[in-house]
Amino acid sequence: MSDLVQRVRDVLPSVRADLEDLVRIESVWADPQRRPEVQRSAEAVSKLLSDAGFGDVRIVAEGGAPAVIARHPAPDGAPTVLLYAHHDVQPEGDATAWRSAPFEPTERDGRLYGRGTADDKAGIATHLAAFRAHGGNPPVGVTVFVEGEEESGSPSLSRLLAAHKDALAADVIVIADSDNWSTDTPSLTVSLRGLADCVVEVATLDHGLHSGMWGGVVPDALTVLVRLLASLHDDDGNVAVKGLHESVAADVDYTPERVRADTGLLDGVREIGSGSVAQRLWAKPAITVIGIDTTPIGTSSNTLIPSARAKVSMRVAPGGDAAEHLAALTRHLEQHAPWGARVTVTPGDVGQPYAIDASGPVYDAAREAFREAWGADAVDTGVGGSIPFIAAFAGAFPDAKILVTGVEDPDTQAHSINESLHLGVLERAATAEALLLDKLGSHRRR
Ligand code: BES
Ligand code: MN
Ligand code: MN
Repeated sequence: MSDLVQRVRDVLPSVRADLEDLVRIESVWADPQRRPEVQRSAEAVSKLLSDAGFGDVRIVAEGGAPAVIARHPAPDGAPTVLLYAHHDVQPEGDATAWRSAPFEPTERDGRLYGRGTADDKAGIATHLAAFRAHGGNPPVGVTVFVEGEEESGSPSLSRLLAAHKDALAADVIVIADSDNWSTDTPSLTVSLRGLADCVVEVATLDHGLHSGMWGGVVPDALTVLVRLLASLHDDDGNVAVKGLHESVAADVDYTPERVRADTGLLDGVREIGSGSVAQRLWAKPAITVIGIDTTPIGTSSNTLIPSARAKVSMRVAPGGDAAEHLAALTRHLEQHAPWGARVTVTPGDVGQPYAIDASGPVYDAAREAFREAWGADAVDTGVGGSIPFIAAFAGAFPDAKILVTGVEDPDTQAHSINESLHLGVLERAATAEALLLDKLGSHRRR
């Protein structure tokens, strides 16, 4: 076994302890009450990086969440590698539905449970492990960039990039925030979908009415909303909005059995849409209703509801433009409400999709590092999720090679209850990253 592989093993217990401390911090940027926790999280990350040997560590913000930039200078002629992760996490949802408390990291069967154990505090742990395994002195320049508002769509990221362009400039950008094919086989993520969302409100009345007196003549807004939302798909579950982009997914074998196992689809419930699984997940648009504001059942009375709203989230296939997709969705919603109901669409976030041409020496080095660390070849995969800032990074540093790696696996349940990290995957991901730094150290700067 190479020394470096052994050194990753040696540093792993300390890295795991640090990861557990980070998970205990409730860094939910989307919750205004917990923004001080996000600050505390940035301070904790910054201290870990200083202690690991980064000479120049700062907490920065441009009107949004605090991010951490840590720099270790490149040896003469060697390239600089930027290692990205995010320290903010999704809200925990119903804490009582978790098997163990969401912010108390707990090990069961080789997995570490807790919000952010995988998405994406494991990304921070991976970078720490790789840097520590090199004794704080890797053969390349290393910049660690840990963002604090990824789960909120990175609204201030372009300002951060502009304000710290020199500090963040790199030849290779490693984004450790994606998935793996399995706990034994790594993925090299080569495409991500984009995102566009909006809130649609329908109104039929200026006040509620007795549903017995007027039902059957006057439409209620919730029925209108449900019909409008139903118009977003055809009977087979394909997206019915016109003018959306479709690309072509990598050719991988994703069986219906695997879909069932990975998702927990209930017996008898069928998949939706047409085309291969990979095509539907990675290369076609998807539309989901992610929330509704209306009268809750507990306070319902026999009243025609005057207005109701829903949040609609759309994934955009690589090659599509998220803003144009949002416009197409808006037009559809404005045109499909039955019975002349009033429709107001409030645009939300847009994030661009991204596709990578993973060829050339940097990607070859990454594939070798994966093979050595995992004992298996990486599968080129798309993901259905989004990391909108990748397009921003690519725009700011057009010559940099972008590698999207990650520490998640099909059982991670990111964003859901009982999120967890597979500890073997953490070790393999950290080993691959440490080896990658080594290999890139023998590349000279162009
Ligand atoms: N780590 C995910 C992105 C991801 C999801 C990668 C699935 C691989 C597989 C990231 O933290 C995330 O959740 N992104 C959001 C972006 C949004 C909030 C703008 C997403 O995809 O919903
Ligand atoms: Mn993430
Ligand atoms: Mn996420």
